[in-house]
Amino acid sequence: VTSGAVWITGAGGFAGGWLRKCLAAAGRPAAALVRKQACERLAVPCTPLDLAQAALAAPGDPVADLEALPEPGALIHLAALSHPSDCERNPQRARLVNAVGVARFFEQCLQRWPELPILFVSSGQVYRQGPDPLAEDGPVEPRNVYAATKLQGEAVALGLRERGHPVLVVRPFNHTGPGQAARFALPSFALRLARIESEGGGRLPVGNLAAVRDFLHVREVVRAYLDLLPHVGATDVVNVCSGDGVRIGKLLEGLVARTRAPVEVIADSGRLRGGQDPGCLVGDPARLGRLLGRVPAFDPESLLDELMEDARRRVAAGEDLARA
Ligand SMILES: NC(=O)c1ccc[n+]([C@@H]2O[C@H](COP(=O)([O-])OP(=O)(O)OC[C@H]3O[C@@H](n4cnc5c(N)ncnc54)[C@H](OP(=O)(O)O)[C@@H]3O)[C@@H](O)[C@H]2O)c1
Repeated sequence: VTSGAVWITGAGGFAGGWLRKCLAAAGRPAAALVRKQACERLAVPCTPLDLAQAALAAPGDPVADLEALPEPGALIHLAALSHPSDCERNPQRARLVNAVGVARFFEQCLQRWPELPILFVSSGQVYRQGPDPLAEDGPVEPRNVYAATKLQGEAVALGLRERGHPVLVVRPFNHTGPGQAARFALPSFALRLARIESEGGGRLPVGNLAAVRDFLHVREVVRAYLDLLPHVGATDVVNVCSGDGVRIGKLLEGLVARTRAPVEVIADSGRLRGGQDPGCLVGDPARLGRLLGRVPAFDPESLLDELMEDARRRVAAGEDLARA
């Protein structure tokens, strides 16, 4: 872990961008495995990887040109079909990207570097929801295709761990921050509010505001991933969360309060995800705290400030909000 580049799949995505920034600030070398189109845009060594194609590759065929990258010190696997609606619409693709392709890719990496520490990024959505903070040894019960395929990916990772490879599964709960895609709840609110602000006022249609989630700033989440790398092998699964639940509606109120124009929030049944959307998902951060010696804290006020500022910039730059 101390030498070699940190290889990142999904390095062009939301968390991937923050992870690259974090590594650059620490002066640590990084390398990216992303889909072909994304390769040119990244300022780190890069090689193409498409997990859907990897899943369908002939047995024994390589799925990526790993020799094109600098020698790895660790691998952080972020790549996924990460939006629950995309997974619901295309369950077969979700399974290929989130589980089958992962198996093919990890096998190729471990064949060449059997001791490579791997951090597999799963999700807190795999748990059976409940009113108490969810701990790693508690029951899992995916309620949607996204969570089911994440759990299948975990099984791939943990199977390799059982074969003696250093693999750690992390279960991050919700994270957000500047740069997150418009279709996720908080950036969707912030972007549409920034547009309402630019138009002098308006209505904001919303879905389920009652859901309780354990939010962290994405900056804290990627920091936790890096700080966990020396602990890969120490345990099998660890939550990345704060342990504090907050109602989505409360965060929306904070964003509305920051909007410099009148806003009418209206219920829109078209924005509800029904039973597939868990009511309460709060993680137990005790194991994370034991490993890192600290539990990441959630600071909603500064997060909401950052989200609104980012949204104003994006709206001013003409971002398409069709999916917000
Ligand atoms: N954000 C959260 O609240 C949250 C919570 C729990 C877990 N997670 C997990 O954290 C990880 C990072 O999430 P994120 O928020 O950064 O999502 P994101 O922005 O959607 O990033 C996912 C990345 O995966 C890549 N990807 C998608 N399909 C691929 C394929 N077929 N082959 C190779 N790469 C592919 C995407 O590349 P393209 O840009 O080319 O599509 C994208 O860069 C994901 O595993 C997600 O499930 C996120």
